[in-house]
Order: sequence, then structure tokens, then C-alpha cells
Amino acid sequence: MPQPIHRTGDHADGPPGGLREADQGKRAIVVDGELEGRVALITGAARGIGAATARRMAELGAMVVCADVLFEEAATVASEIGDAAIAVSLDVSKEPQWKGAFAAARGAFGPVDVLVNNAGVMETASVVDTTDEQFDRLISVNFRGPFLGIRTAGREMTATGGGVIVNVGSVVATTPVETLGVYAATKGGIAALTKAAAMELGPKGVRVCVIRPGTIATPMSGPDTADDPFHRVLALGRIGQASEVADAIAFAASDRASYITGTEITVDGGWTAGRYALEVTGAQSVLEST
Ligand SMILES: NC(=O)c1ccc[n+]([C@@H]2O[C@H](COP(=O)([O-])OP(=O)(O)OC[C@H]3O[C@@H](n4cnc5c(N)ncnc54)[C@H](O)[C@@H]3O)[C@@H](O)[C@H]2O)c1
Repeated sequence: MPQPIHRTGDHADGPPGGLREADQGKRAIVVDGELEGRVALITGAARGIGAATARRMAELGAMVVCADVLFEEAATVASEIGDAAIAVSLDVSKEPQWKGAFAAARGAFGPVDVLVNNAGVMETASVVDTTDEQFDRLISVNFRGPFLGIRTAGREMTATGGGVIVNVGSVVATTPVETLGVYAATKGGIAALTKAAAMELGPKGVRVCVIRPGTIATPMSGPDTADDPFHRVLALGRIGQASEVADAIAFAASDRASYITGTEITVDGGWTAGRYALEVTGAQSVLEST
């Protein structure tokens, strides 16, 4: 039985507006090796949420396969993790490369137990201004990619006795933002695909979930996003950190989530909870008095 390792202060390294100063260092996570012995393949693991997920899953005992089109960056993440990680070159939109990635994982660690379909791209344009190229890129990476991942993992996991597929969606799937229409549609597609796959694969021992981040500080969201006034009107009043999404992904992949499938876990600081009507109704004074 692995010995528990106690760590404190997770996420305390976030930007200003992260955990309130008074709370920093108080948050304690018990890392108990709950992914010990699992083989996890994470797409888009060179950067952002994928890299944070690879690190967190390795901390929890998993052997991780860092898959990305940016092989050199994925290899750096894997080498920082150590012997429990390898990097593979994978363009998620290319079917033959999925076969290669799963074969590499099997060769290094054994059959894949957990697939995290995280790789994604963003294009900003109004629906009517979206070019064919933007549309095709979004569909091929954000929708065809996870579909190919689910199909590859679903077949392999049903043959090897089960597993977990965690897809990374977005809150914009149900709460769209202007200029992210096609991106939002790809994330809505993932949500629908997740439910169907969960129905079909559940009886064969495979759980399928979606994690829905709000705005998270990563290369995708851009360097200026952390200071965006938009975040001040979220319930938690700040942008999220990649490690906070990684925690939810790791939970969904673990046996603690053993009765969770076909559904979504939202990690959005309150984005989808609602909006404060600050200037409009004078609610600000009510908030300030509490
Ligand atoms: N950052 C956010 O605010 C946010 C919010 C909601 C959802 N998401 C989703 O989270 C996931 C991760 O986003 P992130 O913010 O970490 O982005 P990021 O840009 O920081 O990282 C994305 C990774 O995916 C990789 N990638 C891109 N195309 C690929 C392909 N064809 N094959 C394999 N890898 C590919 C990139 O090389 C990169 O390493 C994405 O699916 C994104 O849509 C992000």
C-alpha cells in the first residue's frame, strides 16, 4: 500500500487574484497514490492544462504518456516528471498516429487505463466571418481528435477490461461567448459524444466524462487574460489555474469517481452560476455590505 504524501499550499503559486492571500498555504491535499499503477495518455500535454494534468497524475502514482504535436515541449514535460513519463508525437486529428501513440504507451508501461482528450485549439471570429480554414481546424482538432481518441481508447479498454476517458470541454458549450461560436460548437459536440459513449461503453467497464473549464491561465487564453476585468464579476473573482482543472481531471479518472459517467464537471469559478447586476441594479452596495 503506497504511503500517503501530505502536501500543502497547492495553487498558491497563482497570479495576483488567485487564492486569497489569507488562504494561501492553508489548502491541504492528501496525495495518496490513488492513480498508482494506472497508465494515462494525455493529449496536448506540452502546455497548459495538459501539462498540469500530466504532472498531477504522475504525483498521484500514474505512469503518464505526454502526447502532443509539439513533441520537444512534451518531451521536456516528460523529462521533468521523470521515469514515470514518456513523450509521444501525436496529431490528434490523424487516425494512424493514435494507433502509434497507444502502441508506444503499451510498449513503455502497458495498456492505457486513462485517456485524457485535452488537446484543443481556439479560433476567434464571429460565426459569419469564420473562414473555411478556421472551421476545418477547429473541427479536426477539437472534435475529430477527441472522437478518434474515444474510438481508439474505447476499443482498447473494452478489450483490456475497462478504463476511463476524460474529455476536456468548455463552459462556452452552453454559455457561448461572441466570436467563439464554432469553438463552442466543437465543445458542445464533445458533450454529446461523451454521453453517447458513456451509454455504449459503461456496460463494458469504461467511464466517460467531460471536464468543463471556464477561463484558465494558459498559453491558449493569452498573457493578458489574467487581468481581464471579466474575471472580477465571477463568483470567485479571478481566473482559474491549470492545476485546478488538472485536479478535477485526476479526480474524474480516479476510483473516487467510480459512479460518475456520462456527465460534466464544471471548473469555472462561478462563470455559469450567473452574473452580478452591479451597475444596473445597485447590487454592488448590497455585496459590499455583506
Ligand atoms: N484555457 C482556457 O481558458 C480553456 C477554457 C476552456 C476549455 N479549454 C480547453 O482545455 C484544453 C487545453 O487548453 P489549454 O488552455 O491548456 O491550451 P494550450 O494552448 O495551452 O495547450 C493546448 C495543447 O494542445 C496541443 N495541440 C494543439 N493541436 C494539437 C493536435 N492537433 N494534436 C495534439 N496536440 C495538439 C498544443 O500543442 C498544446 O500543447 C483545450 O481543449 C481547450 O479547448 C481551455
